[in-house]
Amino acid sequence: MKPKVFIAYPITRNVEDFIATYCEIHKWEGKGRVPTDTLLEKIAEVEGVYTSGSMTGPINEELLKHAPLLKVVSNVSVGYNNFDLAAMKSHHVIGTNTPNVLNETVADLAFGLLLATARRISELDHFVKEGSWTRTTDYVDLYGKDVHGTKLGIIGMGRIGEAIAKRAKFGFDMDIRYHNRNRNHEAEKAYAAEYCDLDSLLMTSDYVLLMTPLTKATFHLMGEKEFNLMKENAVFINVSRGQTVDEQALIEAVENNKIYGAGLDVFETEPVARDNPLLKFPNVVTVPHIGSATAKTEEAMAMRAAENLVAVLTGKEPIDPVVT
Ligand code: DGY
Repeated sequence: MKPKVFIAYPITRNVEDFIATYCEIHKWEGKGRVPTDTLLEKIAEVEGVYTSGSMTGPINEELLKHAPLLKVVSNVSVGYNNFDLAAMKSHHVIGTNTPNVLNETVADLAFGLLLATARRISELDHFVKEGSWTRTTDYVDLYGKDVHGTKLGIIGMGRIGEAIAKRAKFGFDMDIRYHNRNRNHEAEKAYAAEYCDLDSLLMTSDYVLLMTPLTKATFHLMGEKEFNLMKENAVFINVSRGQTVDEQALIEAVENNKIYGAGLDVFETEPVARDNPLLKFPNVVTVPHIGSATAKTEEAMAMRAAENLVAVLTGKEPIDPVVT
């Protein structure tokens, strides 16, 4: 008999066929997050769950106590802050994620946000489309901020951080400093990235780019003190998780012109509330958590997550176990 799995994440025919070769599929066909009662009903009878944080919420004690057969939760994302690792360990549930396949795609988006914020691309796109560009337009009003030859501070120098550093170094001749839990000697050598403490990074960077996973240690890593340390004309970019930033402190930093602007892929609450003050600033560029959202990369992530799921349920080691 094939093991039952609950697919809580939108899936292509190709990926579904692969999983169906090994597993009996129960699929969430609705839109958006799986309702709690459906999740509780499904999790009680399956050995595997295929998901992401936004589809099923936290995989915690509350949920796991209803999941006596569960062996694996396979995330279709590199982030796994939806996993309560201690609870999963105590229930002998393996968690997996999809690192590496999305590195270059997320780095593209991070750089896109950086350029858009520096050169005011969203704001000036509106300006043109609403007919404000006239013969009397004063070009001084359209000035932005150079990216090439400036100083980039990357907080979180994992594989995605490295892909961003590569673009910064070889595409834009930027001078790179980084802060990370551990030194990244490869990045230091390949991109002349200089390791420094967080405060020095904030005080010296023209662009501060946050790319760290969300953990207890990085929750609200950027708060009032940190925004105050940033250079007055610096740009802040967040492509990690919304909760790594104290959003109220960011709002105040933008409101009081403490920073030049911000580019955000992620928010403390997602989808972002329509009345979130961040949405009213022209110098804050926003996108809806699309770091990995290209067809090619999403397909690669989906297949990788499927392989992880199937590996565990066929008695093999998953390719990407989340290390506890
Ligand atoms: C992930 O996979 O965790 C990222 O948030 C993608 O954007």
